[in-house]
Amino acid sequence: MEAATNLSLPAFEEGAAPGAAVATSAKERKKAAAVDAVRLLPKLLDACIWGRQEDAHEVGAAIAAAIEASHPALAERITKRLGQQLRPKRFRQCPDNLVDVREPRHGLAEVILAEEVLRECKAIIDEHRRAAELAKFKLAPRHKVLLYGPPGNGKTMLAEGLARELDIPFLAVKYAGLVESYLGQTGKNMQEIFEYAETAQCLVFMDEFDGVAIDRSDSRDVGEIRRVTNQLLLQMDRLSANCVFVAATNAEGLLDKAIRRRFDFVVEIAAPTPELKLRCAGRELAVEMTPGHDVSHLAAQIAALEWPNLSALADRCRQIRRDLVLNEGRGQEWLVNSL
Ligand SMILES: Nc1ncnc2c1ncn2[C@@H]1O[C@H](COP(=O)(O)OP(=O)(O)OP(=O)(O)O)[C@@H](O)[C@H]1O
Ligand SMILES: [Mg+2]
Repeated sequence: MEAATNLSLPAFEEGAAPGAAVATSAKERKKAAAVDAVRLLPKLLDACIWGRQEDAHEVGAAIAAAIEASHPALAERITKRLGQQLRPKRFRQCPDNLVDVREPRHGLAEVILAEEVLRECKAIIDEHRRAAELAKFKLAPRHKVLLYGPPGNGKTMLAEGLARELDIPFLAVKYAGLVESYLGQTGKNMQEIFEYAETAQCLVFMDEFDGVAIDRSDSRDVGEIRRVTNQLLLQMDRLSANCVFVAATNAEGLLDKAIRRRFDFVVEIAAPTPELKLRCAGRELAVEMTPGHDVSHLAAQIAALEWPNLSALADRCRQIRRDLVLNEGRGQEWLVNSL
């Protein structure tokens, strides 16, 4: 309440008489500070809802910093509260050992994708954006996505891009925390992750999915693997359509058949075609990425080399940019011609 009063800036309006020009610029500064602070509110809410105390502290401090000059008293009150222990009792505590809740690092536009993959992604996004329309027809958006294909071609990037596009938090499951050697613990961890994910709308990303969804009939360690797979099946079936579940694997053939059938979208992120490699190199070496230099003509040469994946190609392009900054491009010939 109080924040809203302050953000509407009544105190300033009263004291703004002395000079119109000064008043306007001071008023604008104050307004800009308020806007900066308000822009951080979605982040703050996410941090609270997802039980991320450290993030809540960080955003709180950023808000205080944004308004320090314009609203010093309010900034001081926020800072004082940050010094006190935050205990959001009403919220489910984030199981830090099992999930990393973060803002997606990139949008979908930054991921180089084949046309058919992009089409699938647009379908997923469209269904979630228009969930209310679907609900009128007693339909829920499809929300379980399996990404498979060789390493380093954008599965993780794509999952983050989907979360950004849907404007929902990205919950990356920590594989090392999830899989435990204690009997029965992995299944319990799985349950905890899925229950936490039900806190609010989000995208849950489970990488190395073959590690937990392995074919039950192929395994010698039948007991524990069967338990984990059964638990996963149960959780996937129960998961609310508000939560987008994205799993990724390099070994799709190893997956349990019943689990594979649970996915609404099974999307292959294949080894890149020459066209995708060229787009990737073109983007990494675009003129705006190399201010004062133009090495865009090197993209075709780089893309023509035998790269194992887009990750390696993108790394090389970054090396070329680094060489431009630190070495005036002296290493370029080698970087462009050798693997
Ligand atoms: N399709 C792509 N578009 C743009 N950059 C890409 C793409 N694929 C890979 N890269 C680059 O390579 C890095 C690694 O990609 P990413 O982690 O998404 O691959 P991955 O398919 O998840 O690999 P893994 O199977 O090993 O988990 C990215 O951060 C990015 O720099
Ligand atoms: Mg990955």
